[in-house]
Amino acid sequence: MDPSDPVFSANETLQTIKRRRSIRLFTKQEVPDDLIRILLQAANEAPSAHNQQSWRFIVMRDRKKLGLAHLTTIRSAEFPRPASTLLRMAARSIAGAPAVIAVANTGDLIRHGTQLFKVEKEMAHDFFRTMEIQSSAAAVENLLLAATSLGLATVWLGILYLIKDEVLEFLEEPKGEFMAVVPVGYPSTPGHRPQKQPLGIKVRHIDY
Ligand SMILES: Cc1cc2nc3c(=O)[nH]c(=O)nc-3n(C[C@H](O)[C@H](O)[C@H](O)COP(=O)(O)O)c2cc1C
Repeated sequence: MDPSDPVFSANETLQTIKRRRSIRLFTKQEVPDDLIRILLQAANEAPSAHNQQSWRFIVMRDRKKLGLAHLTTIRSAEFPRPASTLLRMAARSIAGAPAVIAVANTGDLIRHGTQLFKVEKEMAHDFFRTMEIQSSAAAVENLLLAATSLGLATVWLGILYLIKDEVLEFLEEPKGEFMAVVPVGYPSTPGHRPQKQPLGIKVRHIDY
């Protein structure tokens, strides 16, 4: 189905999926805690491998959020371009958003699963780590879509992975695995839908 398909326009969920854009600049308008809570509830409703819900959400505002932006800016200087530029841009989005939600994997699924599955340890570790990452990615996408449906703007910042150890320390999640940092606010710029590659080159039908 193409987003210009009439079914897309008639369906609220599909409309939200279509409307979601990465927005990196925010107005100063506050996002109330009640709305942040709804985003977190939506994220927490995501499917998860073995229903382990092996994610944690860390909500930052004010000084903590500025501290993360500062850390990101300072560390950006140690990287060559384009990583340094992307880190500085990320710091700007973090500082400018009224709220920031970081997502970390707990590692619980890796720990429990590796004990439970009697397969080679390294294979079990890879499997459950991948399952944790995929589960948390589903939670992040739920969060982004919930935000869009409420008129809020977000951007999924993966670039902080480059400084993940300090970020996790800063978030007081040293045993977790870095997943994403998501600034949340009201958009100060409209999002532009990027060029999408046609489905024709993404999909193959077998036995049709
Ligand atoms: C896993 C992941 C990591 C991303 N990391 C960053 C990032 O570090 N900085 C950034 O500005 N955008 C980041 N993005 C947003 C993408 O740039 C964006 O989704 C893409 O350009 C398509 O634009 P759209 O989200 O408006 O459709 C990330 C997106 C994903 C899914």
